[in-house]
Amino acid sequence: MVKKIKSAIYYTGNKFRLVEQLLPLFPKNIDLFVDAFGGSGVVSLNVDSKQTWYNEFDPHTFRLYNLLRDTDPNVIINHIKERIKQFNLQKGKEKTDIGKPEYYAFRDYINQETKTNGYLSYLDAYALSYYAFCTSLRFDQKAEDNLKADVISTYGNREFNDGKSKAGKIIAHYNRLKEKNFYETTNFEIINLINKLLMNEHTLANRTFIYFDPPYLDTITTYNGGWDNEKEQHFKEMLYKLDLAGFKWGLSNIERPDLIEWANENGYTIKYLDIKYVSNGAGLKNHKEVYITNYKSE
Ligand SMILES: C[S@@+](CC[C@H](N)C(=O)[O-])C[C@H]1O[C@@H](n2cnc3c(N)ncnc32)[C@H](O)[C@@H]1O
Repeated sequence: MVKKIKSAIYYTGNKFRLVEQLLPLFPKNIDLFVDAFGGSGVVSLNVDSKQTWYNEFDPHTFRLYNLLRDTDPNVIINHIKERIKQFNLQKGKEKTDIGKPEYYAFRDYINQETKTNGYLSYLDAYALSYYAFCTSLRFDQKAEDNLKADVISTYGNREFNDGKSKAGKIIAHYNRLKEKNFYETTNFEIINLINKLLMNEHTLANRTFIYFDPPYLDTITTYNGGWDNEKEQHFKEMLYKLDLAGFKWGLSNIERPDLIEWANENGYTIKYLDIKYVSNGAGLKNHKEVYITNYKSE
C-alpha cells in the first residue's frame, strides 16, 4: 500500500479517515481508477493504480485541483506568504477582532479583482482559505456566473505555516500527483461521466474500477450541489448499466433502508465500515457508513 497522505484541498466530509478501510475492499491490480466524485481527491491520491481519472463537478474544486496539480508547490507557498505579508493576515485572538479586518480586506480585494479581470485567482482564493472558517472556500450561490461568484468564506481564526500540516501538505500532494499517470481530469456531471464510460465500454470495461462517493441525500452540506432523490434514482439506474456493461464499481454512502433494499435486490455486496462521524448537527451523528459493490472483494 502506498503511504497514506492527506489532500491539500480541505473538504468537509472527505474520505481520509476511511481510506485505510476502503482500500483493501477495492479490486486488486487496478489498471484505471476513476474517482468519480473526486472532491479533495484524497481517495485517488492513495490508490495504487496504473492510471487515474479524477472527476469533479463543482467548477471551483475542479480548478483548485488542477492548480495544485500543475503548479510548483513553492510558487503556491511563496504566493501565500506574500499575501500574508501584504495584507497582514493573522490568526486572531478569541473574543477580539484581531485578524478579522485584514482577512476581510483580502477577501474584498479578491472579489474586486474577480470583477475587474473577469475571473477568479484560485491562488489568492486558496491563500485566503488558510485563514477562513474550516479552511473552506465558499462561494455566493446566487451569482449569475458561477465562475465569477464572490468568495463568501468567513474568517476562521487560523493561519498558514511552514509545518507539515500546511506547507508540507501542499508539497506532498503535488509530489504524489506527479507520480500519477492521468488518463483524464474531467468536470462532468455524474451522468455524463458514466455515459462517457459506457461509450468506451469496449476498451474500458474490463480494466476500469470506478469509485463513487456521492453527496449524501439526507445531509445539509455545502458540497451537496443540489443532489436530490431524482438525481440519486437516475444515478442508481446508471450503476446498473455499468454493471451490465462489465465495469466494476464501488459506492460509499450512509446506511439507508432504501439503499440497502436496492443493493440486495440487485445482488450487490454490502460492507459496513467502522466510523463515527463527528458532525456539526447536520444529522450525521451515529450513522453507519456502507460500501456497496457490484463485485466480491478478493
Ligand atoms: C462526498 S463528496 C466527495 C468527497 C471525496 N470522496 C473526498 O474524499 O474528498 C461529493 C462530491 O460530489 C460532487 N457532486 C455533487 N453533485 C454532483 C453531480 N451531480 N455530479 C458529479 N459530482 C457531483 C460534489 O462537488 C462533491 O465534491
